[in-house]
Amino acid sequence: MAELKAFVCGHPIAHSRSPKIHGHWLKRYDIDGSYTAIDVAPGDFGAFIGGLSAAGLRGGNVTIPHKEAAFAAVQRRDEAAEQIGAVNTVWLEDGVLWGGNTDAYGFAANLDHLSPGWASTGDVAVVLGAGGASRATIHALKQRGFTDIRIVNRTVARAVELADQFGDGISAHPQAATAELLGDASLLVNTTALGMHGNEGLPADPSTLPDHAIVTDIVYVPLETPLLAAARARGLKTVDGLGMLLHQAVPGFERWFGRRPEVTAELRKLIVADLDA
Ligand code: ATR
Repeated sequence: MAELKAFVCGHPIAHSRSPKIHGHWLKRYDIDGSYTAIDVAPGDFGAFIGGLSAAGLRGGNVTIPHKEAAFAAVQRRDEAAEQIGAVNTVWLEDGVLWGGNTDAYGFAANLDHLSPGWASTGDVAVVLGAGGASRATIHALKQRGFTDIRIVNRTVARAVELADQFGDGISAHPQAATAELLGDASLLVNTTALGMHGNEGLPADPSTLPDHAIVTDIVYVPLETPLLAAARARGLKTVDGLGMLLHQAVPGFERWFGRRPEVTAELRKLIVADLDA
């Protein structure tokens, strides 16, 4: 059989950890395949995505700034992509170009892995931020049965737009309401860039959360963000965002290379070392 070929495309792309993740799995499962980072400028995306089959590519990941263009370019979409309005994974199936979104899966799988039972600790979640990552998170929370999802955003209008789009049980709030909103929440999720290296800051004060609450961040550089540090100091359970990156890669790998890979401690160590480098 010919070598199985997949890619990640974005612009810029040099910072992507995906080649390390997929490269590790290809080696571990002894698969005759490759996964390559390709820098595709915004004006070239249409031609690139239209030429996958001719280039012998089975599919790949799509990252910033192409996720919305990919949503428009694919012929069929999975349910998560439809809900989130962005495509991060594409694959060819019987000549049809499919687009999916694995971020919501990655978010939930990370919590399943590191905090089993997380979705049955209550119905109330507070989500900080109203961008693309927030959409993926809200989709996952709805699927996992949260019935009261409170979006807090600096720009309230963006939160209102998201709440309207997702419908029943989703509400929008200004940052000033956060302390009160956290009082009966069992999960707090940060999807803003606040807390990332170079953008240090606390997106919310976790002190008013109940004792059983779980706090998670989609930021993973640093692994322990100021939010997670504050939550841990307060005695709360915390889950860092690196696992979301690792788990979101699983469904794509399985589609292109035909084997469902495992997120192991070894893989996590490898990527942590890369982040520290
Ligand atoms: P992504 O697709 O990664 O979620 P995005 O669409 O740029 O990125 O959204 C970034 C989120 O972080 C937004 O919710 C943004 O708030 P605004 O909608 O008000 O811009 C939030 N964010 C970024 N920097 C912030 C800051 N300094 N303080 C508060 N929120 C911030």
